[in-house]
Amino acid sequence: MTHTIDRLRLGSGLVLLAFVTCHLLNHAAGIVSLEAQDWAREAHHAIWGEWPGLTVLLAATVVHVAIALRAIYVRRSLRLAPLEWGQLLLGLAIPFLLAEHVLGTTVSEASFGIEPSYAYVQAALWLVSPWPGIKQVTVLLVAWVHGTIGIYYWLRLKPWFHRAAPYLLAAAVLVPALSLAGIISTAIEVMALARQPGWIGALLRSVHFDPEAAEFVAEGELTAQIAFVVLVAGTVAARAVRQALVARSQRPMLRYPGGRKVPIQPGASVLEISRSEGIAHASVCGGRGRCSTCRVRVSAGAEHLPPPDTQETRVLARIGAPPDVRLACQIRPTRSLEVVPLLPASATAEAGFRRPAYLAGQERELAVMFTDLRGFTQLSDGRLPFDVVYLLNRYFAAMGGAVEQAGGRVDKFIGDGVMALFGLTDPPEEACRQALAAARTMGAALDMLNRDMANDLPAPLRMGIGIHAGPVIVGEMGHGLAKQLTAIGDTVNIASRLEGLCKTLGVAMVVSDHVAAVSGLPFDGFERRETEIRGRDAALAVRLVGDPRELPQV
Ligand code: FES
Repeated sequence: MTHTIDRLRLGSGLVLLAFVTCHLLNHAAGIVSLEAQDWAREAHHAIWGEWPGLTVLLAATVVHVAIALRAIYVRRSLRLAPLEWGQLLLGLAIPFLLAEHVLGTTVSEASFGIEPSYAYVQAALWLVSPWPGIKQVTVLLVAWVHGTIGIYYWLRLKPWFHRAAPYLLAAAVLVPALSLAGIISTAIEVMALARQPGWIGALLRSVHFDPEAAEFVAEGELTAQIAFVVLVAGTVAARAVRQALVARSQRPMLRYPGGRKVPIQPGASVLEISRSEGIAHASVCGGRGRCSTCRVRVSAGAEHLPPPDTQETRVLARIGAPPDVRLACQIRPTRSLEVVPLLPASATAEAGFRRPAYLAGQERELAVMFTDLRGFTQLSDGRLPFDVVYLLNRYFAAMGGAVEQAGGRVDKFIGDGVMALFGLTDPPEEACRQALAAARTMGAALDMLNRDMANDLPAPLRMGIGIHAGPVIVGEMGHGLAKQLTAIGDTVNIASRLEGLCKTLGVAMVVSDHVAAVSGLPFDGFERRETEIRGRDAALAVRLVGDPRELPQV
């Protein structure tokens, strides 16, 4: 939906900018003469005044205004960058300033048979008072600046933008400058002609002037302006009502396993909230952040918590806690949060000091996942380093979030790939289900990323995923700061090879049949085949998944 709206906004904006550019170049012909301006107007009319061009123009106008009003309505915050504010306000000013000109030309032509020439329009703009003319010049500049800001936002992340920027800037200045020169030139010419006796009368006759049209334009302008102000004010008011309703329905809640949820009290820690709601929770040190018995796994909402302070970091490091584990007595949520207490309410002080046995080295049955971003090398060619890092970090954040949300642990990021482990604290069946749930979320997250960055990517990002489960040796390995929990063994190698097979087999995901069977999820709809794995004697049964979003829901 967002993707479609972005494309409609861009498409309609480009149509309107094309119209404005033609119109400004039409004005610029005035540098030559009034006759040249009228000749250019005929050409302009042939493109935009007949029904095909007019239909496209009207549709683009309606779509562009509707999308702008929708953006105001759905936007959560009106904290915009100054340039964004500028573009929004200039855009809203255009219909307000343009009403008189549209009514006096196109609508008067259709309703009263007036055939406006450039001399007629210039006379109407400047002869009685300079204000209509000043307003017209203002709307010309407002529309142009609004359009060029839009073009800048569209093109600024393109790899070639910096090379093209000087030429685009020259065009952005030259087009309105030439247009203004044309307007001023013919305005002076018309004022000189108007001093000749009988010229104005002849002009009015030549355009079939109808006095009723002037009245119609004056009344119509006020009506159109009031209608537009009401439309914008109504949108802003509707947004305020919507936000108030959303705020009421989004009272932050603390969720526990089993679906129980309680309201979050401002300033209270998770431990204090649990106690006040009568939920038993281990807390040997009484909430002083020393014993670690209150530790919880934060399964949703962790991104809204401040990072652990020095004391909490020290205690979490002592027990070798993964990144999604926090001390319930130290976190004070302000937004909704989902937690899983990791020790029973009756836990003793000794339990708080015990490091997970797997950190010292253990053989465990885990599910291992490898992912890889397809075609990233070509994608990064010719891009600025900043853009490549930004893109990769957004991708890693989305993939890492999917792993942690499912209960897994990111083992490492390798180039543009990810290795993740599932089942460090859960049985194999749960580990397989977690890995499949993570893959499903990754598919949705990649889709969202592609939609968000549609304008900045030459083609949507694609990835390959391989999952296998089995015995691995797990433990803290490495040296110094590079020491970390990881897993080694045949299962890891096979998972990596399955990821590599995605490209050969033309699918987004290859999961071993063992994982599919142990998870207990229905895999009948996914092709099963035996495949050779390098370094392994027997063929391995695998399931091919075209789109991870179609995986069975856990
Ligand atoms: S209750 Fe002891 S660390 Fe939280």
